[in-house]
Amino acid sequence: MDGLHSTITLNNGVKMPRFGLGVWKTDNHTSRDSVATAIRNGYLGIDTARQYGNEQGTGAGIKLGLEQSGLKRSDLFVTTKLYNGEQGDYDQVSRAFENQLKDLGLDYVDLYLMHWPVDKTYLESYHAMERLYREGKIRAIGVSNFDNDRMKNLLDEAEIVPAVNQMEFNPTNQEHEILEFDRSHKIEMTAWSPLGGGASLTNPVIETLAKKYGRSTAQIILRWEWQRNIITVVKSTHGKRIIQNSQIFNFSLSAEDVQQINKLDQGKRALWYDDFQWHNPKGAFANSIAQWSDTKK
Ligand code: A2P
Repeated sequence: MDGLHSTITLNNGVKMPRFGLGVWKTDNHTSRDSVATAIRNGYLGIDTARQYGNEQGTGAGIKLGLEQSGLKRSDLFVTTKLYNGEQGDYDQVSRAFENQLKDLGLDYVDLYLMHWPVDKTYLESYHAMERLYREGKIRAIGVSNFDNDRMKNLLDEAEIVPAVNQMEFNPTNQEHEILEFDRSHKIEMTAWSPLGGGASLTNPVIETLAKKYGRSTAQIILRWEWQRNIITVVKSTHGKRIIQNSQIFNFSLSAEDVQQINKLDQGKRALWYDDFQWHNPKGAFANSIAQWSDTKK
């Protein structure tokens, strides 16, 4: 039966959980608590990034969660991402990666993603990631926030096809063209902001479906993503919601209701290249890792 242990086989044969916890906008203390709560409650996928400034907290949460659940490191699937400001040649990327491992308290990661395609450095950085992958401390490599033009450029140059492209994906932003292109190249899409940053939770169509199925709006959306075969990482800092979000395996949406949600697409991205200039080496956040300062020092 489908559940938190359900996996998808990536293009290099590695199995990745189809559902996991994300920790964006979460300080170190909170991410430790959320990650440990998630692991105790059956989550196997954990997704963080250098940019989030919480790899130490995430690593502490992994350690605590493993102790509390009795699971082994190899039961989990940990994703982190190469930070925009640390892209560059092999020496640069390898130094960045080693520091990330140290902060996470891990000796390998399951998936290492390039967080954003910084225009001047993404090809060189990807080659560095390919080399790190071959060296064996990363089980799969991939990218995040790659549109089709940049993905085509990458595929022209790459020796290893990215296993994953992590994109914003939710009812009002469904990225049809990117999904189709990536799937045709055996690149799995992972959804960030699967709840539209919370905005989709009050969509009237979703609210009507929540009443019809007797579930929360979050569960309706997450179940829809499941039925669309999108790998999902959902963030919550509340224990009850972390548990509730994972309870989507004992009901299913009818084909018509999946269609209803499909029709909500407005191609409306929350954060994108031009708004935040993520692709620009001098753009926002290029040189600022911890956006969310630790409130509980
Ligand atoms: P919180 O961390 O306070 O629970 P997304 O993953 O689309 O970016 O959305 C995450 C937002 O949705 C967060 O603000 C999170 O807040 C909120 N959220 C996550 N799960 C639920 C839920 N089950 N019910 C209500 N809000 C939720």
